[in-house]
Formats: sequence, C-alpha cells, structure tokens
Amino acid sequence: MTAQRIDGKALAAQVRAEVAVRAAALTAAGRQPGLAVILVGANPASQVYVRNKVAACEQAGMRSILETYAATLHEADLLARIHTLNQDEAVHGILVQLPLPAHIDAHRVIEAISPRKDVDGFHVSSAGALMVGQPGFRPCTPLGCMRMLEHIGMGRLRGKHAVVVGRSNIVGKPMAMMLLAADATVTIAHSGTADLAAICRQADVLVAAVGKVGLITADMVKPGAVVIDVGMNRNAEGALCGDVDFGAVEQVAGWITPVPGGVGPMTIAMLLANTVQACEQF
Ligand code: GUN
Repeated sequence: MTAQRIDGKALAAQVRAEVAVRAAALTAAGRQPGLAVILVGANPASQVYVRNKVAACEQAGMRSILETYAATLHEADLLARIHTLNQDEAVHGILVQLPLPAHIDAHRVIEAISPRKDVDGFHVSSAGALMVGQPGFRPCTPLGCMRMLEHIGMGRLRGKHAVVVGRSNIVGKPMAMMLLAADATVTIAHSGTADLAAICRQADVLVAAVGKVGLITADMVKPGAVVIDVGMNRNAEGALCGDVDFGAVEQVAGWITPVPGGVGPMTIAMLLANTVQACEQF
C-alpha cells in the first residue's frame, strides 16, 4: 500500500490564513506585528530562506524589517543592533539567520535576543522552558512537525515510539522534547548510531533531520509508520530532496511528508504564528 502524503504546503496555507486574521485584528488595534530578520553574509541558501520568510510576513499582513550585513560584520556591532531591536516597540520578533560567519559566536548572538522576541525559540531560556514544560517560544521546524502530526490525528502519542534521527539544537533535540511532551516514548539517534536501521524499524513516528541524501531507506521503516522528513538536500541531479528515499519508503510507510512541500512550508508558517503570538503577548 502507498503511504498517504502529508501536504505541508496546504497545511501551512491554513496556518498562515489563521495568522493573517490575528495579525489583522492586532493591526486594527494599532499594533501591527513586526518581525526583524537579520542575515549576515551571502550564503545562497540563507538568502532564499530569508527572502521567503520576509515575503510570508508581508502576505500575512505583518511588517518585516530585513537587515543584511557583509560577512565581515563585527560581532559587537551585531550585538549592538540586537540590543536596539530589543528596545524597539514596533518589533515583536527578532530572527538571526543561521549559520553565522565563523568569527561570530552564534550562542552569544542568540542569547542577546530578548526571550520575549525569540520567535525562533533558540534562546537558552526558550529551550529550558520547553524542557520543563513551561510556556515559551518553540523552535519553528519541530513545532511545524507536531502540527502535521496533529493534523493526521497523531497529536497524542501515548504508547507510541518516536525515533528522531538528528541531534541539532534547532531540530533534533527540541523535536524529541515535543514528542515526549505528547507522551511518546522517544529515542534520539544520529547518523553514527550503531544499528540505526534496527532502531528506526521500531518507530511508529520516524523523524529524519540529518541532512544526508538517502539516509532512511525502506528497510528502516516499520510498515504503517509516520515518516517526517526534515532533510533539505540537493541530489546528484541538483533537485531538492530530503533524507528519506521517498519512492521506496512511500511503499512501506502509512504517512509520509514530501520534500519539497512538506516540513519546509510549515517552518515558515510556525515562524509567523510565533511572531503574531509575540505581538499578542507584548
Ligand atoms: N537556519 C536553518 N534553519 C533556521 C531557522 O529555523 N532559523 C534560523 N534563524 N536560522 C536557520
């Protein structure tokens, strides 16, 4: 049987429409939500992501401030700019696109963002709030994955085993925390895990977030499992693809997210949702 596809593009459009309604209400009350997006350097992938984020903001009726700086920007100047944006009442969310140039300490930069404006959910205070189950901004990509699970009736995962392959601070670790909060039994693995295939085969929900073409093959997937592909890679032909061997895994899984059109659009939608929430809480 072929897996059902989880259409991230359609679900993201629904989330964005809901966000637009909330943004319009705030604007009518004289408080248009505003997101500041900072890009340092000219990483081509980051340029595309940032452009998409800014365009999505404007489509949802929110204000966006895009600031681009040369890769030679001094860390002290970036920190000073963030301090100014923290004080700016028209700015409700601040996003610094990662990766930053090697001479800038990304942790120091992220910790400079006010937790009230940390719409990426990367600040240690946001990460800690997620860890202990307190309110706070959740990282957009795992939040979008959880929204996809809710959409297919898998928002509660008691008795289910979720396996997350990937341990980044942006996706793998917060994803595992959110799955745990949904009552799943959670395993975090990575590309160097011994007998990764056997561990993945136990998964009722399998999340791949490594950034490696063809990492998840059909023999690694339990029949009927939900497979969420966070990978964003280029294959040998230069086409966008995830970490999952989609054609083969689709024949085994119960549900699967495509790349493109899966998790990617959800990340942006959740960023908008976090930004409108930041404004509502202001
Ligand atoms: N780089 C890759 N993903 C992200 C993200 O979600 N937010 C930021 N700020 N940078 C990223």
